[in-house]
Amino acid sequence: MPTTPEKLSKYEKLSSLTYRRVMHLLHEEMNNGLSANYNLKADIKMFPTFVRALPDGTEKGKFLALDLGGTNFRVLMVMINERDVDIQSQTYLIPQRIMLGTGIQLFDHIADCICRFIRDHDLKNETLPLGFTFSFPCKQEGLAKARLSKWTKGFRCEGVVNEDICVLLHEAMKRKNTTSVDVEVMAVVNDAVGTLMSAAHTDRNCEVGLILGTGCNACYMESLENVGLWEGDFEEPSQVLINTEWGAFGDNGCLDFIRTEYDRELDTYSINPGKQIYEKMISGMYMGEIVRLALERLSMEGLLFESADRDCELFHKGRFFTKYVSEIESDHDDFFRNVKQVLEEIGVTNYTSEDCKIVKYICTLVSARAAFLSSAGLATIINKLEKPEITIAVDGSLYRFHPRFHNLMVLKIQELVKPGLKFKLQLSHDGSGKGAALVAAVAIRLRDSKQGRCPS
Ligand code: GLC
Repeated sequence: MPTTPEKLSKYEKLSSLTYRRVMHLLHEEMNNGLSANYNLKADIKMFPTFVRALPDGTEKGKFLALDLGGTNFRVLMVMINERDVDIQSQTYLIPQRIMLGTGIQLFDHIADCICRFIRDHDLKNETLPLGFTFSFPCKQEGLAKARLSKWTKGFRCEGVVNEDICVLLHEAMKRKNTTSVDVEVMAVVNDAVGTLMSAAHTDRNCEVGLILGTGCNACYMESLENVGLWEGDFEEPSQVLINTEWGAFGDNGCLDFIRTEYDRELDTYSINPGKQIYEKMISGMYMGEIVRLALERLSMEGLLFESADRDCELFHKGRFFTKYVSEIESDHDDFFRNVKQVLEEIGVTNYTSEDCKIVKYICTLVSARAAFLSSAGLATIINKLEKPEITIAVDGSLYRFHPRFHNLMVLKIQELVKPGLKFKLQLSHDGSGKGAALVAAVAIRLRDSKQGRCPS
């Protein structure tokens, strides 16, 4: 059901003027990131990705793709035949001890999974070009040379920051000591970039990628003349995809004027205090916890769940998941079926209808703020690019599963973009697999065309 403008105002606690101030600040910070002089100090790193061209639909081939960025690691085999794409994939869990262990453990685990996949899919003795979706901030020195600049989300593996992740992968593969398995990393890709590439394969207007999942990030195609820190060649096409890493917006305190006590508390107890401030107000890794902190506070003050058991999950960090927010907001009547189910799941049993109403209301406030803040980010990019029509490829569990995120975003962006600019938010499928393979495919296409070879 579309959200009507009247409903929009119900969720709006920050004024339109405030969101415009956020946009202004973001624009400034993005320009700092792009500038050679200011980049070092800038929070938003605006990493050039070395992806210079979008797919044109003529790509062909068989690729391996890796996807690392959340609690799961995926290995995929991607067959591209022009517009047709066939994907086979396997998901492997990354245990928390590995997420917080050493880089060697992490990459050994990845190498194990790759070998298992290759064995299970009968790919031994084939050297397939590989696209690696590595969804963390990386300074790229080439398409297949990417140094981790810092860990984000739940990862903190020792000995990886500043290292080239392709080298770490190759070394781990070598440690496996298998001669029949080899990989040739063609490209390291951020998930926002993969998402954009995947949608751009069929939509020529697609020039922005957005992730609203565990983390939040955006990328877009920028003219080289605006990229002061670009150190590559200036041949045609004179453009490059920029991985903004805008999740770090606000790390210098510029968003403090809109942060709440819950944002501050969440940040203090996170594994990276003071970092990823904008992301922490938006993404799926944090949204449930913001709601939980608000519920906990109201309950402590005697305004909610009068006789809640202090031992229940509600009073434990990290136990109120973002998927609960989506479920709660999917209740469309006043029976609060989903709210009750969630409350029971977290061990709150004595609740009134009024309690249910408050819980749902808090969820709508927190998620609407996230939708509006990410809209302000997108509107900043749309206004900067000034294309008469633009498609934004979007992926991520928050965007996919929250019942109103899309509609709230469309309305907010409409309000914030320059008059006359048309935009479309397009759900992008399998960016991390198809997108990474496409980056590898485009790289091969460009390399072959430079060498005057026909693509095989
Ligand atoms: C975090 C990462 C970024 C990624 C995003 C979404 O912000 O730093 O690289 O794109 O999460 O997964």
